Amino acid sequence: MRYKKLYGTSEEISVMGLGGWAVGGQNYGPTEDSETIRAIHAALDMGVNFIDTAPDYGQKNSEALIGKAIKDRRDKVFLTTKLDRGGGYDYAMEQIDKSLERLGVDYVDAYYLHWPDTRVPIEESMSAFRDLQKAGKIRYVGVSNFDIALLEEAQKTVKIQLMQPPFSLVDQRQRERLEWCESHGINIVTYGSLGGGILTGRYRTLPEFDEKDPRITFYDFFKEPKFSKCMELLAVLDKIAADHKVPVSQVAINWVSQQSFVTTSLMGVTKVPHAKENAAAFDWELSPEELGAIDDEYERVGLGRMGWQKSVIQDETAEHGIRVKWIPYGDETERK
Ligand SMILES: NC(=O)c1ccc[n+]([C@@H]2O[C@H](COP(=O)([O-])OP(=O)(O)OC[C@H]3O[C@@H](n4cnc5c(N)ncnc54)[C@H](OP(=O)(O)O)[C@@H]3O)[C@@H](O)[C@H]2O)c1
Repeated sequence: MRYKKLYGTSEEISVMGLGGWAVGGQNYGPTEDSETIRAIHAALDMGVNFIDTAPDYGQKNSEALIGKAIKDRRDKVFLTTKLDRGGGYDYAMEQIDKSLERLGVDYVDAYYLHWPDTRVPIEESMSAFRDLQKAGKIRYVGVSNFDIALLEEAQKTVKIQLMQPPFSLVDQRQRERLEWCESHGINIVTYGSLGGGILTGRYRTLPEFDEKDPRITFYDFFKEPKFSKCMELLAVLDKIAADHKVPVSQVAINWVSQQSFVTTSLMGVTKVPHAKENAAAFDWELSPEELGAIDDEYERVGLGRMGWQKSVIQDETAEHGIRVKWIPYGDETERK
C-alpha cells in the first residue's frame, strides 16, 4: 500500500479508500453482509486505512455494517461519514449522534457535508461542524460536491480539510477545481474512482441495469455515446495491463492515485477478490510515458468533450432544495 500525508495534519492516509455506498444494500445489485465484511477486512489487512460512508448508503445499513466490521480495529481506521439531507445547525447536532451510534464509535475522523443545502446559509452549517469539532465528535471537516465559491465561503467559518468530488479517468470535468484545492491545501478524496466499475474491464458491452440502478442515474458512462468512448480508452489500458501482467483495473487505479492533487481515491467494493485486486495495484506504478499515453488517448477519443454531466440545480420546491439534471458538457446555460 502507498500512503500520503493528509495536508495540514500528521495523518498518513492510504491512497486507496474503501467506499461504503453499496455496503449493506442493493445499490449495484444484491450484496451479502458477511462477504462484505470479509472484503473490508481483506482491504484493511492489505494496508487500507480509510473508510467512507454516509447515513443513507446501503439503504441506510452501511454505517452499521461498517461499524461492525471495524469493531476490533477502530484505531487502525480513518473513519469518515457525512451529514446527509440538510445542513441546518440543530439537524447536524442531532444527526452526528445517530451516525456515531450506528457506527458504534465515540468520534469520526472526518465529517462531510454531503451536498450543498441551498436552504441553509453555509455559515450555519459550518458553525455546526466547528462546534462538533470542538466537542470532539469529529476530528476534521470535509465537504462534498462543492464548487470553489462555496468552499471559500465555508472556509470563513471552519477549516475545510477534505473535499470529496467525482473524479476518475472517465470523469475529469472537475480537474481545475481539484487543482485549485491542491494549491489551497485542501485534501482531495475522489469518488467513483473506478467509473462505477467501468474501468475494471468488467463491462465490454453496454450492460442492461435496472432503471433505478445508480450506474445509470448517477453516472453517465453507462450510456451511449460515452460508453463506446470508454471502451476505446480501455483498449490502451488493456495493453498496459498486459505489459505489466496485471488486471486492467489496476491501471485505472494507479492513474487516479498518481494525480498529484489526489490524496486518496474511494473504491466501492463488496467482494473479497475486488478488495484484494484493487489494494494490490499499489505494488507497482505507471511510468511517466504510460501516464502520457493514457492522457493522449483520453484526449484523442474526446471523452472530456462529450456526453452529459450531472448538474445540481437550486430548486426551493424540491425536497432538499436541490434538483439534479443531466446537461451536455460545456453547456453552462442550464446551470441557473
Ligand atoms: N460524495 C458523494 O456524493 C459520493 C457519490 C458517489 C460515491 N461516493 C463514494 O465513493 C465510493 C466509490 O464510488 P462508487 O462505489 O459509486 O463507484 P466505484 O468505486 O467507481 O465502482 C464501484 C463498482 O466497481 C466494482 N468493482 C470494484 N473493484 C472491482 C474490481 N477489481 N473488479 C471488478 N469490479 C470491481 C464494485 O463491485 P463490488 O461491489 O461487487 O465489489 C462496484 O460495482 C462510494 O462507495 C461512496 O463511498 C460518494
